Amino acid sequence: GLITLRQLLDHAAEHGYGVPAFNINNMEQGIAIMEAAKATDSPVIIQASRGARSYAGDNMLRAMIEALAASYPGLPICLHQDHGESVRTCLSAIQNGFTSVMMDGSLKADGKTPADYEYNVSITRWVAELAHMVGASVEGELGCLGSLETGEGDQEDGHGAVGTLSREQLLTDPDEAAAFVAETGVDALAVAIGTSHGAYKFSRKPTGDVLAMDVIEKIHARLPNTHIVMHGSSSVPQKWQDIFNAYGGEMRETYGVPVDEIVRGIRHGVRKVNIDTDLRLAATAAIRRVAATDTAQFDPRKFLKSATEAMTEVCRERFEAFGTAGQA
Ligand code: G3H
Ligand code: 13P
Ligand code: NA
Ligand code: ZN
Repeated sequence: GLITLRQLLDHAAEHGYGVPAFNINNMEQGIAIMEAAKATDSPVIIQASRGARSYAGDNMLRAMIEALAASYPGLPICLHQDHGESVRTCLSAIQNGFTSVMMDGSLKADGKTPADYEYNVSITRWVAELAHMVGASVEGELGCLGSLETGEGDQEDGHGAVGTLSREQLLTDPDEAAAFVAETGVDALAVAIGTSHGAYKFSRKPTGDVLAMDVIEKIHARLPNTHIVMHGSSSVPQKWQDIFNAYGGEMRETYGVPVDEIVRGIRHGVRKVNIDTDLRLAATAAIRRVAATDTAQFDPRKFLKSATEAMTEVCRERFEAFGTAGQA
């Protein structure tokens, strides 16, 4: 059945594990996540972006989650709004059965422009007060996702010209994080440590200069009871890049966040790990393979079944690596 983010992450903190938060847009992703959760006995965070809500529609999403909960009894599911940009988005998510919302006040309502601290505090506190009145959880974000390699802001959020943001602007400040959590009352805090959304995070295997795991350790030392969230945490597995490229895809050389770095984060307070790109890549690579190797095929289920299996494999690996397995 459905549970809140707070309930799930309190349990994760008590038992020292992390929970992957997978993005959902359609039925196949939902089945893939739940099949992996069932196989590993894992609690689940399913999150929907604003884009996902408009792609599937709120009625469809809500009914899909209800159906997944009914089809996989005994597995706790948190349904979370990913990157809410306004109070309206967060409240309408709760109306549609979401048990948790992210108010991302690190950006202005356009979802692009970095916001100042006062704006972020006031809108996040507002959402936290309202959501808590009806028993939903809230994730806030402090700091700007973006590349320490280039100084560019997050590519998918679209802000930031090349090289405009300094290392200090891109990373979450531990003291400011402590103030932010106290002033807003958030249940979980997303931090900026040099990751960005999408496939193109790093041009080589990341080291400490571009993936600032030390910042996680400092924030956890300052805020030992705060649940830390890592965004942009796809690992962009070479295996799926190779399959994607072998069957006509064009993905240039790229590196994601290594799973062992995430595991290190989990030892230092990371409880929610956002993953979207890895499932997109695995699904599309699998679909390309069927399209290229079974050229007479025109039953879409053959494509989608293979995509579902590819996504299940990725989900299983993350549940096992993050210690989520066995915790449902
Ligand atoms: O924040 C980015 C997530 O990967 C969601 O992406 O807005 O394209 O659904 P989306
Ligand atoms: P990825 O693009 O690395 O999968 O990040 C997803 C995310 O942070 C969703 O909020
Ligand atoms: Na989120
Ligand atoms: Zn994100």
